[in-house]
Amino acid sequence: MLRVNDLYRSFGDRSVLQGVSFALKPASINGLIGPSGGGKSVLLKIIAHTCKCEYGSVIFDKGASVADVGLMFQEGALFDSMTVYDNVAFPLVGGKVPTTSLPREVREEVCEKVGSMLARVGLLKAASKMPGQLSGGMRRRVSLARALVGRPRILLLDDPTSGLDPVASSVIMDLIVELHKEYRPTTVMVSHDLRRLLPCVERVLALFDGTIAFDGSVADLAQSAPVFVRSFVSCRYELPSPVAEPIVLE
Ligand SMILES: Nc1ncnc2c1ncn2[C@@H]1O[C@H](COP(=O)(O)OP(=O)(O)OP(=O)(O)O)[C@@H](O)[C@H]1O
Ligand SMILES: [Mg+2]
Repeated sequence: MLRVNDLYRSFGDRSVLQGVSFALKPASINGLIGPSGGGKSVLLKIIAHTCKCEYGSVIFDKGASVADVGLMFQEGALFDSMTVYDNVAFPLVGGKVPTTSLPREVREEVCEKVGSMLARVGLLKAASKMPGQLSGGMRRRVSLARALVGRPRILLLDDPTSGLDPVASSVIMDLIVELHKEYRPTTVMVSHDLRRLLPCVERVLALFDGTIAFDGSVADLAQSAPVFVRSFVSCRYELPSPVAEPIVLE
């Protein structure tokens, strides 16, 4: 379970989050949608404690803490001066990269975890490359590996396919779905690519005007979301037709 209670955050005189609340089921995969500049990235950063809120709280699963959160930043945000290996190792060693200065046992454990995660995203051979030598899709796979290497119980993915071509976007989305099935972190994924996002998620949260304007399944979205949410979605994704009320014959 991840519970977000009544979050408020503003920048200057712009109120970005104005009472955001929701609770997610353990191991669920959820989509966070909404207009650009609406506060989706700010919300994920507040959950990951990389940005403060002015009011409200974030409550994790029993026994979990912010150390159990993996965040894939918008645009990937890799460290360009570090190898792929060191980028992925970064969260495991508290930023102490290169890992050569660490005790041997720690180094070996890190090597095992980073190696198996890089293999999982198909990038083992690229371990010693610099991010600048990789394609956009490969860089995103490195970011995904970095977010998952610590086996987080909560996974936050900020627009993982933005700026990628259709093939690379599909590769990343398929990988996310497969890895979610394997590791089962409670996941929140932001995307503007609703055609790819909505078929993958169990539930949709729509952030509009600083609050969660809709929280439910894709089927409910077509049926009962506010008109402005439905029209936002239907410009980008063909919603299933709402189920008509049965006609009762006398
Ligand atoms: N560090 C900051 N300083 C000042 N303003 C900020 C900061 N971070 C975010 N904002 C503002 O908060 C608002 C919400 O930004 P945010 O990046 O969360 O939107 P978003 O929903 O993720 O947009 P997009 O879909 O384009 O990624 C924007 O107006 C942005 O300019
Ligand atoms: Mg954003």
